[in-house]
Amino acid sequence: MKVNGTPTRSIWRVEAQPVVEIIDQTALPHAYRILRLASLEDAAHAIRSMQVRGAPLIGATAAYGVALALERHADDGALASAIATLGATRPTAVNLHWALARMRQHLAPLQVAARCPAAWQEAAAINDEDVAQNRAIGEHGLELLKPLTEKHGRLDIMTHCNAGWLATVDHGTALSPVYAAFAAGIDVRVWVSETRPRNQGLLTAWELKQHGVPHTVIADNAAGLLLARGEVDAVIVGADRIAANGDVANKVGTYLKALAAREARVPFFVAAPRSTLDFDCASGGHIPIEEREGDELRVLHGRNGEGQPASVRQLPENEAVANPAFDVTPARFVSAIITERGSCAPDQLHMLYPEMKQ
Ligand code: MRU
Repeated sequence: MKVNGTPTRSIWRVEAQPVVEIIDQTALPHAYRILRLASLEDAAHAIRSMQVRGAPLIGATAAYGVALALERHADDGALASAIATLGATRPTAVNLHWALARMRQHLAPLQVAARCPAAWQEAAAINDEDVAQNRAIGEHGLELLKPLTEKHGRLDIMTHCNAGWLATVDHGTALSPVYAAFAAGIDVRVWVSETRPRNQGLLTAWELKQHGVPHTVIADNAAGLLLARGEVDAVIVGADRIAANGDVANKVGTYLKALAAREARVPFFVAAPRSTLDFDCASGGHIPIEEREGDELRVLHGRNGEGQPASVRQLPENEAVANPAFDVTPARFVSAIITERGSCAPDQLHMLYPEMKQ
Protein backbone atom coordinates (compact mmCIF):
# COMPACT_ATOMS: atom_id res chain seq x y z
CA MET A 1 0.00 0.00 0.00
CA LYS A 2 1.07 3.62 -0.04
CA VAL A 3 3.25 5.84 2.15
CA ASN A 4 3.33 9.43 0.94
CA GLY A 5 2.01 8.14 -2.38
CA THR A 6 4.74 5.51 -2.81
CA PRO A 7 3.82 1.79 -2.83
CA THR A 8 5.52 0.30 0.23
CA ARG A 9 5.66 -3.02 2.04
CA SER A 10 6.03 -3.29 5.81
CA ILE A 11 9.25 -5.35 5.47
CA TRP A 12 11.75 -5.93 2.66
CA ARG A 13 15.24 -7.27 2.03
CA VAL A 14 17.82 -4.71 0.98
CA GLU A 15 18.77 -5.92 -2.48
CA ALA A 16 21.64 -8.44 -2.51
CA GLN A 17 22.58 -7.58 1.08
CA PRO A 18 22.16 -9.67 4.24
CA VAL A 19 19.97 -6.92 5.65
CA VAL A 20 16.23 -6.48 6.10
CA GLU A 21 14.41 -3.19 6.57
CA ILE A 22 11.20 -2.58 8.48
CA ILE A 23 8.95 0.32 9.33
CA ASP A 24 9.36 1.04 13.05
CA GLN A 25 5.77 0.73 14.23
CA THR A 26 6.62 2.00 17.71
CA ALA A 27 7.32 5.42 16.14
CA LEU A 28 4.04 5.64 14.21
CA PRO A 29 1.82 7.57 13.83
CA HIS A 30 4.10 10.43 14.91
CA ALA A 31 7.21 9.55 12.90
CA TYR A 32 7.89 7.38 9.84
CA ARG A 33 11.18 5.65 10.54
CA ILE A 34 12.88 2.79 8.72
CA LEU A 35 14.99 0.38 10.80
CA ARG A 36 17.66 -2.07 9.62
CA LEU A 37 17.73 -5.66 10.89
CA ALA A 38 21.18 -7.20 10.40
CA SER A 39 21.17 -10.12 12.85
CA LEU A 40 19.03 -12.73 14.53
CA GLU A 41 19.04 -10.56 17.66
CA ASP A 42 17.77 -7.55 15.69
CA ALA A 43 14.90 -9.61 14.29
CA ALA A 44 13.98 -11.11 17.67
CA HIS A 45 14.13 -7.67 19.29
CA ALA A 46 11.95 -6.15 16.55
CA ILE A 47 9.24 -8.75 17.20
CA ARG A 48 9.51 -8.64 21.00
CA SER A 49 9.45 -4.83 21.20
CA MET A 50 6.63 -4.61 18.62
CA GLN A 51 8.64 -2.59 16.11
CA VAL A 52 6.96 -5.14 13.89
CA ARG A 53 3.64 -6.59 14.98
CA GLY A 54 0.51 -8.20 13.63
CA ALA A 55 0.39 -11.97 13.20
CA PRO A 56 1.39 -12.32 9.51
CA LEU A 57 4.18 -9.74 9.80
CA ILE A 58 5.56 -11.44 12.91
CA GLY A 59 5.81 -14.67 10.86
CA ALA A 60 7.36 -12.89 7.88
CA THR A 61 9.96 -11.19 10.11
CA ALA A 62 10.81 -14.47 11.84
CA ALA A 63 11.46 -16.10 8.47
CA TYR A 64 13.95 -13.34 7.62
CA GLY A 65 15.35 -13.69 11.15
CA VAL A 66 16.32 -17.29 10.35
CA ALA A 67 18.11 -16.14 7.17
CA LEU A 68 19.96 -13.46 9.15
CA ALA A 69 21.02 -16.06 11.74
CA LEU A 70 22.31 -18.47 9.11
CA GLU A 71 24.58 -15.76 7.70
CA ARG A 72 26.76 -16.41 10.77
CA HIS A 73 26.40 -20.18 11.29
CA ALA A 74 24.20 -22.60 9.42
CA ASP A 75 24.86 -25.94 11.17
CA ASP A 76 22.02 -27.91 12.80
CA GLY A 77 22.66 -26.33 16.21
CA ALA A 78 22.56 -22.78 14.85
CA LEU A 79 19.35 -23.47 12.93
CA ALA A 80 17.65 -24.98 15.99
CA SER A 81 18.85 -22.17 18.24
CA ALA A 82 17.65 -19.43 15.84
CA ILE A 83 14.24 -21.07 15.61
CA ALA A 84 14.04 -21.40 19.41
CA THR A 85 15.03 -17.75 19.95
CA LEU A 86 12.52 -16.42 17.43
CA GLY A 87 9.80 -18.84 18.58
CA ALA A 88 10.03 -17.45 22.12
CA THR A 89 9.44 -13.81 21.15
CA ARG A 90 5.64 -13.66 21.33
CA PRO A 91 3.22 -16.45 22.29
CA THR A 92 -0.19 -15.91 20.70
CA ALA A 93 0.24 -15.40 16.94
CA VAL A 94 0.60 -18.88 15.48
CA ASN A 95 1.92 -17.41 12.23
CA LEU A 96 5.28 -17.17 14.02
CA HIS A 97 5.43 -20.93 14.58
CA TRP A 98 4.00 -21.64 11.15
CA ALA A 99 6.78 -19.62 9.46
CA LEU A 100 9.51 -21.14 11.63
CA ALA A 101 8.25 -24.70 11.02
CA ARG A 102 8.22 -24.02 7.29
CA MET A 103 11.78 -22.66 7.42
CA ARG A 104 12.96 -25.68 9.42
CA GLN A 105 11.28 -28.15 7.08
CA HIS A 106 12.84 -26.49 4.05
CA LEU A 107 16.34 -25.96 5.45
CA ALA A 108 17.11 -28.89 7.73
CA PRO A 109 17.48 -31.49 4.92
CA LEU A 110 19.93 -29.26 2.99
CA GLN A 111 23.75 -29.31 3.13
CA VAL A 112 24.99 -26.69 5.59
CA ALA A 113 26.59 -24.60 2.80
CA ALA A 114 23.30 -24.43 0.89
CA ARG A 115 21.16 -23.33 3.82
CA CYS A 116 21.77 -19.61 3.99
CA PRO A 117 20.88 -18.76 0.35
CA ALA A 118 17.93 -21.15 0.60
CA ALA A 119 16.77 -19.38 3.77
CA TRP A 120 16.73 -16.00 2.02
CA GLN A 121 14.77 -17.52 -0.85
CA GLU A 122 12.24 -19.23 1.38
CA ALA A 123 11.76 -16.12 3.52
CA ALA A 124 11.14 -14.07 0.36
CA ALA A 125 8.62 -16.70 -0.79
CA ILE A 126 6.78 -16.50 2.57
CA ASN A 127 6.67 -12.72 2.24
CA ASP A 128 5.45 -12.78 -1.37
CA GLU A 129 2.81 -15.40 -0.60
CA ASP A 130 1.53 -13.28 2.27
CA VAL A 131 0.97 -10.39 -0.14
CA ALA A 132 -0.90 -12.59 -2.65
CA GLN A 133 -3.02 -14.22 0.05
CA ASN A 134 -4.03 -10.92 1.58
CA ARG A 135 -4.97 -9.55 -1.82
CA ALA A 136 -7.21 -12.60 -2.32
CA ILE A 137 -8.75 -12.05 1.15
CA GLY A 138 -9.66 -8.58 -0.06
CA GLU A 139 -11.44 -9.92 -3.12
CA HIS A 140 -13.39 -12.57 -1.19
CA GLY A 141 -14.22 -10.09 1.55
CA LEU A 142 -15.51 -7.61 -0.99
CA GLU A 143 -18.09 -10.16 -2.15
CA LEU A 144 -19.46 -10.32 1.42
CA LEU A 145 -19.50 -6.55 1.74
CA LYS A 146 -21.15 -5.62 -1.56
CA PRO A 147 -24.70 -6.66 -0.53
CA LEU A 148 -24.35 -4.60 2.66
CA THR A 149 -24.10 -1.39 0.65
CA GLU A 150 -27.73 -1.79 -0.45
CA LYS A 151 -29.05 -0.49 2.88
CA HIS A 152 -27.97 3.13 2.53
CA GLY A 153 -25.68 3.23 -0.48
CA ARG A 154 -22.47 3.19 1.50
CA LEU A 155 -20.53 0.95 3.82
CA ASP A 156 -19.70 1.66 7.47
CA ILE A 157 -17.13 -0.81 8.74
CA MET A 158 -15.89 -1.16 12.29
CA THR A 159 -12.49 -2.70 12.98
CA HIS A 160 -10.33 -3.31 16.04
CA CYS A 161 -6.57 -3.14 16.51
CA ASN A 162 -4.53 -2.92 13.32
CA ALA A 163 -5.09 -5.73 10.84
CA GLY A 164 -4.12 -3.57 7.90
CA TRP A 165 -1.08 -3.68 5.66
CA LEU A 166 1.18 -2.70 8.55
CA ALA A 167 0.23 -5.94 10.31
CA THR A 168 1.06 -8.05 7.26
CA VAL A 169 3.61 -7.73 4.46
CA ASP A 170 1.04 -5.83 2.38
CA HIS A 171 -2.71 -5.27 1.93
CA GLY A 172 -3.67 -6.44 5.43
CA THR A 173 -6.29 -8.97 6.42
CA ALA A 174 -9.29 -7.16 7.94
CA LEU A 175 -8.52 -4.00 5.98
CA SER A 176 -7.91 -5.78 2.68
CA PRO A 177 -11.67 -5.97 1.88
CA VAL A 178 -11.91 -2.31 2.88
CA TYR A 179 -9.15 -1.36 0.44
CA ALA A 180 -10.82 -3.54 -2.21
CA ALA A 181 -14.16 -1.77 -1.61
CA PHE A 182 -12.46 1.62 -1.79
CA ALA A 183 -10.74 0.64 -5.05
CA ALA A 184 -14.12 -0.52 -6.42
CA GLY A 185 -15.53 2.96 -5.86
CA ILE A 186 -17.72 2.04 -2.89
CA ASP A 187 -18.30 4.85 -0.39
CA VAL A 188 -16.62 3.05 2.51
CA ARG A 189 -15.91 4.57 5.93
CA VAL A 190 -14.16 2.94 8.85
CA TRP A 191 -14.76 3.22 12.59
CA VAL A 192 -11.28 2.77 14.02
CA SER A 193 -11.21 1.51 17.57
CA GLU A 194 -8.35 3.08 19.53
CA THR A 195 -7.29 -0.33 20.98
CA ARG A 196 -5.96 0.47 24.41
CA PRO A 197 -3.40 0.02 25.82
CA ARG A 198 -1.02 -0.16 22.82
CA ASN A 199 -3.26 1.94 20.57
CA GLN A 200 -2.82 -0.10 17.42
CA GLY A 201 -5.95 1.68 16.14
CA LEU A 202 -3.76 4.73 15.62
CA LEU A 203 -1.72 2.66 13.15
CA THR A 204 -4.96 1.79 11.38
CA ALA A 205 -5.90 5.47 11.19
CA TRP A 206 -2.43 6.30 9.87
CA GLU A 207 -2.49 3.75 7.08
CA LEU A 208 -6.09 4.54 6.09
CA LYS A 209 -5.17 8.21 5.90
CA GLN A 210 -2.12 7.42 3.75
CA HIS A 211 -4.46 5.63 1.37
CA GLY A 212 -7.21 8.25 1.49
CA VAL A 213 -9.87 5.99 3.05
CA PRO A 214 -12.36 7.99 5.20
CA HIS A 215 -12.25 6.93 8.82
CA THR A 216 -13.05 8.07 12.37
CA VAL A 217 -11.15 7.07 15.51
CA ILE A 218 -13.32 6.09 18.48
CA ALA A 219 -12.59 5.15 22.07
CA ASP A 220 -12.90 1.39 22.44
CA ASN A 221 -15.86 1.87 24.76
CA ALA A 222 -17.87 3.69 22.07
CA ALA A 223 -18.20 0.57 19.91
CA GLY A 224 -21.34 -0.77 21.63
CA LEU A 225 -23.24 2.48 21.21
CA LEU A 226 -22.40 2.78 17.50
CA LEU A 227 -23.42 -0.82 16.87
CA ALA A 228 -26.67 -0.41 18.81
CA ARG A 229 -27.51 2.79 16.90
CA GLY A 230 -27.20 0.99 13.53
CA GLU A 231 -24.16 3.00 12.50
CA VAL A 232 -22.13 -0.07 11.55
CA ASP A 233 -22.81 -2.39 8.58
CA ALA A 234 -20.15 -4.95 9.48
CA VAL A 235 -17.34 -5.53 11.93
CA ILE A 236 -14.16 -6.95 10.39
CA VAL A 237 -11.18 -7.97 12.50
CA GLY A 238 -8.02 -10.00 11.96
CA ALA A 239 -6.82 -12.95 14.01
CA ASP A 240 -3.70 -14.16 15.74
CA ARG A 241 -4.79 -17.78 15.89
CA ILE A 242 -7.92 -19.64 14.81
CA ALA A 243 -8.52 -22.98 16.51
CA ALA A 244 -9.88 -26.09 14.76
CA ASN A 245 -13.42 -25.36 15.98
CA GLY A 246 -13.32 -21.80 14.60
CA ASP A 247 -12.70 -19.97 17.90
CA VAL A 248 -10.67 -16.82 17.19
CA ALA A 249 -7.88 -15.26 19.27
CA ASN A 250 -7.35 -11.60 18.42
CA LYS A 251 -6.45 -8.34 20.15
CA VAL A 252 -8.09 -7.92 23.53
CA GLY A 253 -11.43 -6.15 23.06
CA THR A 254 -12.38 -8.16 19.98
CA TYR A 255 -14.70 -10.40 22.03
CA LEU A 256 -16.67 -7.41 23.36
CA LYS A 257 -17.20 -6.17 19.81
CA ALA A 258 -18.42 -9.61 18.76
CA LEU A 259 -20.92 -9.66 21.64
CA ALA A 260 -22.21 -6.20 20.80
CA ALA A 261 -22.38 -7.04 17.08
CA ARG A 262 -24.45 -10.15 17.82
CA GLU A 263 -26.89 -8.16 19.95
CA ALA A 264 -27.18 -5.53 17.17
CA ARG A 265 -27.48 -8.20 14.43
CA VAL A 266 -24.46 -6.82 12.63
CA PRO A 267 -22.24 -9.33 10.76
CA PHE A 268 -18.95 -10.03 12.51
CA PHE A 269 -16.26 -11.14 10.05
CA VAL A 270 -12.75 -12.43 10.77
CA ALA A 271 -10.17 -12.18 7.98
CA ALA A 272 -7.08 -14.38 8.13
CA PRO A 273 -4.74 -16.36 5.88
CA ARG A 274 -3.79 -20.03 6.17
CA SER A 275 -0.80 -19.18 8.38
CA THR A 276 -3.20 -18.09 11.17
CA LEU A 277 -5.04 -21.44 11.32
CA ASP A 278 -4.02 -23.84 14.07
CA PHE A 279 -5.88 -27.11 13.68
CA ASP A 280 -3.62 -28.67 16.34
CA CYS A 281 -5.45 -26.43 18.77
CA ALA A 282 -8.89 -27.97 19.35
CA SER A 283 -10.56 -24.83 20.71
CA GLY A 284 -9.89 -21.30 21.89
CA GLY A 285 -9.33 -22.35 25.49
CA HIS A 286 -6.01 -23.91 24.43
CA ILE A 287 -4.64 -20.75 22.81
CA PRO A 288 -1.85 -19.13 24.86
CA ILE A 289 -2.77 -15.55 25.72
CA GLU A 290 0.12 -13.10 26.00
CA GLU A 291 0.30 -11.19 29.29
CA ARG A 292 2.16 -7.95 28.76
CA GLU A 293 3.89 -5.66 31.21
CA GLY A 294 1.74 -3.49 33.45
CA ASP A 295 3.49 -0.27 32.47
CA GLU A 296 1.59 -0.39 29.17
CA LEU A 297 -1.41 0.62 31.30
CA ARG A 298 0.37 2.76 33.84
CA VAL A 299 2.24 5.03 31.41
CA LEU A 300 0.89 6.81 28.33
CA HIS A 301 3.19 7.68 25.42
CA GLY A 302 2.72 10.38 22.82
CA ARG A 303 4.06 13.78 21.78
CA ASN A 304 4.19 16.96 23.82
CA GLY A 305 3.21 20.45 22.62
CA GLU A 306 6.61 20.84 20.93
CA GLY A 307 6.11 17.62 19.01
CA GLN A 308 8.72 15.76 21.05
CA PRO A 309 8.20 12.17 22.34
CA ALA A 310 6.79 12.35 25.87
CA SER A 311 5.37 10.00 28.49
CA VAL A 312 2.76 10.61 31.16
CA ARG A 313 2.32 8.37 34.18
CA GLN A 314 -1.37 7.82 34.82
CA LEU A 315 -1.04 5.20 37.56
CA PRO A 316 1.54 4.84 40.34
CA GLU A 317 4.27 2.25 39.86
CA ASN A 318 2.81 0.01 42.55
CA GLU A 319 -0.76 0.00 41.21
CA ALA A 320 -1.88 -3.56 40.45
CA VAL A 321 -2.81 -3.98 36.79
CA ALA A 322 -3.57 -6.91 34.51
CA ASN A 323 -2.69 -6.67 30.85
CA PRO A 324 -3.84 -9.64 28.76
CA ALA A 325 -3.06 -8.70 25.15
CA PHE A 326 -5.57 -10.96 23.39
CA ASP A 327 -8.97 -12.52 23.94
CA VAL A 328 -10.91 -15.37 22.38
CA THR A 329 -14.13 -14.92 20.44
CA PRO A 330 -16.13 -18.16 20.37
CA ALA A 331 -16.91 -19.42 16.87
CA ARG A 332 -20.65 -18.96 17.43
CA PHE A 333 -20.22 -15.18 17.33
CA VAL A 334 -18.33 -15.22 14.02
CA SER A 335 -20.54 -14.75 10.92
CA ALA A 336 -17.80 -15.84 8.51
CA ILE A 337 -14.07 -16.30 8.25
CA ILE A 338 -12.57 -14.73 5.15
CA THR A 339 -9.48 -16.53 3.87
CA GLU A 340 -7.45 -16.47 0.67
CA ARG A 341 -9.47 -19.50 -0.50
CA GLY A 342 -12.86 -17.92 0.11
CA SER A 343 -15.25 -17.32 3.00
CA CYS A 344 -16.96 -19.87 5.19
CA ALA A 345 -18.67 -20.40 8.52
CA PRO A 346 -16.06 -20.81 11.27
CA ASP A 347 -16.83 -24.52 11.73
CA GLN A 348 -16.38 -25.17 8.00
CA LEU A 349 -12.72 -24.17 7.73
CA HIS A 350 -11.64 -27.79 7.32
CA MET A 351 -13.61 -27.86 4.02
CA LEU A 352 -11.50 -24.99 2.67
CA TYR A 353 -8.29 -26.57 3.97
CA PRO A 354 -8.82 -30.34 3.60
CA GLU A 355 -5.05 -30.95 3.48
CA MET A 356 -4.62 -29.67 7.05
CA LYS A 357 -4.79 -32.41 9.64
CA GLN A 358 -7.12 -31.96 12.62
O1 MRU B 1 -0.19 -7.20 19.59
P1 MRU B 1 -0.30 -7.03 18.10
O2 MRU B 1 -0.34 -5.61 17.67
O3 MRU B 1 0.73 -7.84 17.35
O4 MRU B 1 -1.73 -7.65 17.78
C1 MRU B 1 -2.18 -7.62 16.45
C2 MRU B 1 -3.56 -8.14 16.31
O5 MRU B 1 -4.19 -8.57 17.25
C3 MRU B 1 -4.12 -8.20 14.92
O6 MRU B 1 -5.50 -7.97 14.93
C4 MRU B 1 -3.85 -9.61 14.35
O7 MRU B 1 -2.50 -9.93 14.47
C5 MRU B 1 -4.26 -9.72 12.94
S1 MRU B 1 -3.13 -8.86 11.92
C6 MRU B 1 -3.49 -9.05 10.30
